[in-house]
Amino acid sequence: METLTAVGNEVFQVKDFNLWYGEHHALKDINFSIRQNEITAIIGPSGCGKSTFIKTLNLMCKMVPSVKLSGAIMYDQQNIVTDKVDLVELRKKIGMVFQKGNPFPQSIYDNVAYGPRIHGMKKKAVLDEIVEQTLKDVALWDEVHDRLSAPALGLSGGQQQRLCIARALATKPDVLLMDEPTSALDPISTLKIEELVLQLKKDYTIVMVTHNMQQAARVSDQTAFFLMGELIEVDHTLTIFSTPSDKRTEDYISGRFG
Ligand SMILES: Nc1ncnc2c1ncn2[C@@H]1O[C@H](COP(=O)(O)OP(=O)(O)O)[C@@H](O)[C@H]1O
Ligand SMILES: [Mg+2]
Repeated sequence: METLTAVGNEVFQVKDFNLWYGEHHALKDINFSIRQNEITAIIGPSGCGKSTFIKTLNLMCKMVPSVKLSGAIMYDQQNIVTDKVDLVELRKKIGMVFQKGNPFPQSIYDNVAYGPRIHGMKKKAVLDEIVEQTLKDVALWDEVHDRLSAPALGLSGGQQQRLCIARALATKPDVLLMDEPTSALDPISTLKIEELVLQLKKDYTIVMVTHNMQQAARVSDQTAFFLMGELIEVDHTLTIFSTPSDKRTEDYISGRFG
């Protein structure tokens, strides 16, 4: 068996990866790498396995009791599929943001301080600084600095999503996973998130599932096209959207199905 090590700027190396929900073979022989400080977009029609794939990168997929995995996903010199992995540590390094901004029903401040507190940070001055810096990083500070103790659920949808990104970033992860982060947002809030994601890639490796192909084309460096559990094609985003090599990719990006 060939040994894989995380080399160069590859953050994840996915090798012959398979996932089953019970009998249902949801991801089939997936092979590709996700590179540091790039945005990787995952596209494909509903049910093709996008969410399953992204939830595998922080092993959230294991919350489903019937799930079975095989193959390798190398991250930080471990095969997270087969090695014993400290899930708390893994999720500290790999933050996740979901489709619908889902702030906790707590204050804006407490949402951002949540992760650092879980990891044992109690000093108010340090938490204050993390909250301020992280809210600045997601371009929300100017809008909320005078009401940090107000309920997070009082924010607009776009602000809630930026707050969720702040919550994910507050533990200083390496990787940010986003599952359709703008699908519930209006076009202006969507654009703000896209600008933010482009800023964040200086400091983070980002994997983003998107239903919106223009979004993938606008923000990502690499695009992976999934179809019925298979990775049909992965390449530089410009190539995928101009000269894809597989007919099915071409059909999908030109809107012939999906
Ligand atoms: N918890 C689960 N249990 C069983 N099957 C699931 C579960 N989650 C997803 N699936 C199935 O796996 C396939 C991929 O789903 P999903 O990853 O959610 O696709 P996508 O995000 O691309 O819409 C679908 O056929 C879906 O029905
Ligand atoms: Mg999904």
